[in-house]
Parts: sequence; structure tokens; C-alpha cells
Amino acid sequence: MAKNNELIIWSNTFSCGIKLIDDQHKGLVKMVNEMFNHISGDEKQEHLYFNKIILEAVDYIRVHFVTEEKIMRFTKFKGYAEHKKEHDNFVLTVIENINAYNTGERFNLLNFTKFLKNWVLSHIAIMDKKYFEYFKKLASRKADGKLSITINDIAQCA
Ligand code: FEO
Repeated sequence: MAKNNELIIWSNTFSCGIKLIDDQHKGLVKMVNEMFNHISGDEKQEHLYFNKIILEAVDYIRVHFVTEEKIMRFTKFKGYAEHKKEHDNFVLTVIENINAYNTGERFNLLNFTKFLKNWVLSHIAIMDKKYFEYFKKLASRKADGKLSITINDIAQCA
């Protein structure tokens, strides 16, 4: 079971105001917390858990990145290329971790979860924050002060 100080507590400072993205970020936080809650110190049990959830977790992360990237292109966010590179590098690092484990290198669920937590928190606080600010600026130019982006808008982006 995780120690309370390890878990991520959702805070509105993580919010960008677009429900879809906020919901996905909440999902990432939930995923990290669930991983912490499966750290038992029993290596065999932790491996079984990791094998069960990791591909689903990578898929979830990829869907989130693609959604953000589409919104950034849709809104012509200038930091898109830099942001996408961060996403791509992160996915590569996670895949390297999975491969290392599959090829028999020692795997530590606690270290992996800490890495995931630190990456998620710093990425939202630094990189995602940049487009949050940009979205807020765009929203402030609208009559109702809101930036509404629908699933259909996102679907139209290549
Ligand atoms: Fe929310 Fe750029 O990941």
C-alpha cells in the first residue's frame, strides 16, 4: 500500500479548463496512484501486476498525447513541435523500461512509479502549463471568455 505522501492529490492548479484534457490528466493521476497502491514489496506479485496493466497504461498515455497534440495544432500553438518531442521521448523511455524488464533486467515497480509520477507532475507543471496559458489567452478573446473545443474539432485535425 502506498504512503500518503507518495500519492498525487489532484489540484485545480493542474487544470487547463478544457474538460477532455482535465479528465485525461485526472486519469493519469489515478493511474499513478493505482500503481503506488500495488507496491507490495513482493517482486512476483508486482511483476504480474505490471504485465497486466502496462500496455493499457501506455495506450492511455498515447491517446492523451495525441489528443493534446491535435488541440495544439487546431489552436496553432507555437510550442507544438517542442511539446511533441517531449511526448515522443517519454514514450520511448517507457518502452525502453518495458523492454529492459522483458529482457530480464531487474525491474523495480516503486522506481518505475516514482519516475512516472515525477514525469507527469513536472510535465503538467512546465510543458502543459505553457499551452494552458495560451488557451487562456485565446479564451479571453472570446465574447463568453470560454475556449470550447469539441470532440468533432479534434477529430477534424489530422
Ligand atoms: Fe498532458 Fe503534454 O501531456
